[in-house]
Amino acid sequence: MSVVQNPLLVVHSLSEMHFSTFDSPEDIDVDSSSDTTMSDSSLDRFPPRSESSATSHDWEMRSASPQPSVYSMTSSLRQAAYRQEYGRGLNNYSDVYQLPADEEELQRLDHQHRMFTMVMDKYPPPLPDVLRANPEQPKAVVDLGCGSGSWILDIAREFPHCSAVAIDLVPMQNLELPPNCRSEVDDINLGLQHYFGAFDVAHARLICTGIRDYAGLVDHISHSLRPGGLVELTEYNFVIHDSEKRPIEIPEDDKALTGPWLPRWMNLARKAIRTRGGEVEAADHLHRWVSEHGSFEDVVHRQYWFQSSPWNTGTDPDSLRANEVAKIMRDDLLLFLKSGRPLLLGSGIPEQLVDRVESNTMEELQNAKTQLYLLIEDVYARKRADF
Ligand SMILES: C[S@@+](CC[C@H](N)C(=O)[O-])C[C@H]1O[C@@H](n2cnc3c(N)ncnc32)[C@H](O)[C@@H]1O
Repeated sequence: MSVVQNPLLVVHSLSEMHFSTFDSPEDIDVDSSSDTTMSDSSLDRFPPRSESSATSHDWEMRSASPQPSVYSMTSSLRQAAYRQEYGRGLNNYSDVYQLPADEEELQRLDHQHRMFTMVMDKYPPPLPDVLRANPEQPKAVVDLGCGSGSWILDIAREFPHCSAVAIDLVPMQNLELPPNCRSEVDDINLGLQHYFGAFDVAHARLICTGIRDYAGLVDHISHSLRPGGLVELTEYNFVIHDSEKRPIEIPEDDKALTGPWLPRWMNLARKAIRTRGGEVEAADHLHRWVSEHGSFEDVVHRQYWFQSSPWNTGTDPDSLRANEVAKIMRDDLLLFLKSGRPLLLGSGIPEQLVDRVESNTMEELQNAKTQLYLLIEDVYARKRADF
């Protein structure tokens, strides 16, 4: 008899390697009602890539979500999802995504989510209408690269009649998922063929560091949405802007070791993300990719500026509010400098350089004197009814 710790956690991208982590075949709970057939896709735009993860025959094994699962999560599988590097817990599936997936990182993502909801809408304005209950077609939402699950959990609770699917390289750590929410372990780089036509809303936020072909992902999202469905994509390009909101250009082979330091650290991160195969510039192209895809309409492009630290001296409500958000951003960045170590060091950037740029960046952020900005790009759109 198999032990199912949380039947709402499922794994679709299992490799032979990961099968071997099971102590016995009983460790796997197979749901015989699952639909394991592949979608008959003629699209090559975003083909599964064997080199993008440890998976091999995976997408044939993935079910057509939001149908029931193929495999339920076990403790050994949960353990196998992680590896330790440079003192942090990282996902064990993707060679591309090298930021941690440990408790410290999940807490950072929760705080970051709170900051986003202070500045941006919780979700795009059309979402409640798109998710309005329809007895003939139960509604379904997917969060691609859900992290701690803060966004999808909010949606699952607010729209209890919808199925909410949270996809990530590691299982969601929250073991008390609402009954309509499911966590799936999967590598998005393998394609979304098994979800084609399955969702009314698709959401992805800050996942470009782990995505090889983001334009291909936009294409697969469009096929995963039902007619009239809604997509929202939010990304950051790791560029820092000066006090006039002009991008601070730093050559990739930059040798100068002077301030401002945050742009220098971000430049190292950009280099490392590119080295690993992530599409760090995705934020710059989101609007064009969605607008030019052909299957989307009502495309809305929004840009949000964030201060890197709370430098405002005024006591008026706007300054106080700006400082409140900027404090969270500064704390987020301070933690992110630590989270980025496995990415930077694992990409061959010398430790001495990483240490120096990191400690100077920390000091600069703590002093809150250097006025720097980050620009977050957000695009949402509806899938055309005739597509
Ligand atoms: C920076 S976190 C953002 C998490 C969440 N979207 C949020 O905004 O709070 C990026 C997340 O995307 C996931 N991710 C990155 N590349 C992925 C891939 N190829 N397949 C599945 N998940 C991926 C990571 O594991 C991580 O949890």
